[in-house]
Amino acid sequence: MAIEITPKRPSFFAEVSGVDLRQPLAAKQWQEIQTAFHEYAILFFRAQPLTDEEHIAFSARFGPVFTATNYHWKTEARRVHAKMADISNIGTDGAILPADDERRFHSRANELWHTDNTFKFVPARCSLLLAREVPEQGGDTEFADMRAAYDALTEEKKIEIEDLVVEHSIVYSRTLLGFNGYTDGAKQELPPVPQVLVRHNGQTNRKALYLASHGSHIVGWPKERGRTLLDELTTHATQSAFTYRHKWHPGDLILWDNRCTMHRATPYDEFNTRRDLQRTTVSDEINSVERRELERASHV
Ligand code: OGA
Ligand code: MN
Repeated sequence: MAIEITPKRPSFFAEVSGVDLRQPLAAKQWQEIQTAFHEYAILFFRAQPLTDEEHIAFSARFGPVFTATNYHWKTEARRVHAKMADISNIGTDGAILPADDERRFHSRANELWHTDNTFKFVPARCSLLLAREVPEQGGDTEFADMRAAYDALTEEKKIEIEDLVVEHSIVYSRTLLGFNGYTDGAKQELPPVPQVLVRHNGQTNRKALYLASHGSHIVGWPKERGRTLLDELTTHATQSAFTYRHKWHPGDLILWDNRCTMHRATPYDEFNTRRDLQRTTVSDEINSVERRELERASHV
């Protein structure tokens, strides 16, 4: 079967058809998917009713798959596989979560523009989100093209931000929504981490703005000045010229590059309608500041 790549947004979002991800991929197919991933940053595969094992196996081709952590809430019970993030409004009993369930805070946090796991020292390379049950209305996901957003900056702005480092913390982004339920142990496991503001990808040789709701301030700058710049860049990057909205159907799988995109969930009737998606997250190799230092050291 020949793979077909249909761009929905040039150099940003493409649909991949003519491949069944439940079957082992031929070397040529894998090569074509990788090439498309670098060119587009976001790939959409339709009608892929994968089992957890198949979802994890395909994800693992891109790198090490994170084991999901339950830092956020105190209960240990999980509804989904240990390597899956549960992106749903459904509890372990299979019913829609109670209105006051703590997990609702974290779903709300997904409505802030972000990219996954920047609050970890070694952040995420890519995520693969698979839809099982979706609402008829609402609950779309929006994506922002952070390479195009970077390219559109003035040369002056590019020079100003080139070397900046941003501190990221999930405790910060959750506080934005009024959530302060982290235990002391969880806070210790989730200290703020540094990430570059401009990410260069050696494979594509493109630069991207690396922003997320988790980014609290610019290291070495007065807090207010840093916030103003981060807010200004986020507003710039999330203009409609740089965003694409996906309406989900069961079996849709979207693979996004966390290094050069942002995304956010959009609202739906979450108290009465089921929405059930599952995500694997693939780890990068090293911290983004460390990577930049290594890249620069190898160029002198
Ligand atoms: C995620 C996420 C958005 C959504 O899975 O990482 O942010 O629309 N999801 O559910
Ligand atoms: Mn996310």
